[in-house]
Amino acid sequence: MAQLRKVGIAGVGSHLPKKIVTNDDLSRFVDTSDEWITQRTGIRQRHFATEEEPPAYLAAEAAKKALERSGLEPGDLDCILVASTVPDHHVPITACLVQRRLGIEDGRVGGFDMNAACCGFTFALNTAYHFVAQGTYENVLVVGTERLTSILNFEDRGSCILFGDGAGAAVVRPLEKAGRGEFLSWSMGLMEDFNATHVKAGCGAMPCTPERVAEKDHLLILHGRDIFKFAVRAFADLVEKALEPYGVEELGMVVPHQVNRRIVEAALQKLGIPMEKVFLNIDKYGNTGAASVGIALEEADRLGVLPKGKLVVIVAFGGGLTFGHVLLRW
Ligand code: ACO
Repeated sequence: MAQLRKVGIAGVGSHLPKKIVTNDDLSRFVDTSDEWITQRTGIRQRHFATEEEPPAYLAAEAAKKALERSGLEPGDLDCILVASTVPDHHVPITACLVQRRLGIEDGRVGGFDMNAACCGFTFALNTAYHFVAQGTYENVLVVGTERLTSILNFEDRGSCILFGDGAGAAVVRPLEKAGRGEFLSWSMGLMEDFNATHVKAGCGAMPCTPERVAEKDHLLILHGRDIFKFAVRAFADLVEKALEPYGVEELGMVVPHQVNRRIVEAALQKLGIPMEKVFLNIDKYGNTGAASVGIALEEADRLGVLPKGKLVVIVAFGGGLTFGHVLLRW
């Protein structure tokens, strides 16, 4: 096998829907309070998309910013990978809708959609890395995009307060062209647990019927307490293993899936890593599923809090269950 190329991240971008919903706004129609949500999750507000801002639109807007920051045009792309739990439609795939929205000529790019729940962006980055490392493609667009609020049950206060909509994007290129964000290691894990979180109806196993909609089977069910324990363990294990070959003193920043401030605090405490070494923006966006790591990476990069030459650990876990990491040198 030919030697693998070094791979980096050239540019990142994000896009959030216009409408902001604060905890106080939510508490007008959900039996909850700003105090409970802030204390238990760290979330203060989130963005809700409208039908004029579907996932493909959010993805294309995030992609335009990532391309601009990479010094590339949409036509320079070879491949589009879209990660989403709640894409526009089952068919057509969202990658085609993004291709059209970016004005890329038919047949010019390859690509596909992926669903790894909240690990979507992380697993798509891993996939992009392999395409570029093997020389299959030069410029791969990775986008995580969600309209999770379209599957929330607003009568379930244990889940509906957690989520928001948005998109995060990155352009993956050979390292000498990207100039930074060198991929050092990655992992992906699966562990079946239907009960922890699921949407029963609306796909092949259980198509939507009026009866199932009346039962709210087309909406998200979450057993948060079970996921909490799993997430703390997975977060700590993944970060520890990623840093093992380099040493914790090389760590610049952990950029985690924005799931719950308390989960992140508990995991870092286990590892003895101070909170200054983790980038959190869950207060502004909530849990945006497959988009969350992309949105966080963009904001951390824009704010200049990713130290040059230091290690950046991306870590995520989601419904399925799924878990994984990407280790970069920024
Ligand atoms: N407002 C006020 N009270 C609430 C709310 C709310 N929004 N939600 C729950 N409560 C109450 C409960 O009814 C319960 O009351 P009780 O003690 O009288 O029965 C009490 O608060 C404690 O409830 P818990 O569920 O134990 O609260 P916990 O501290 O575990 O926090 C939470 C719940 C925030 C969901 C937490 O478990 C969590 O973040 N888990 C992670 C889940 C997650 O984000 N998963 C995302 C991945 S899923 C995917 O990939 C799509």
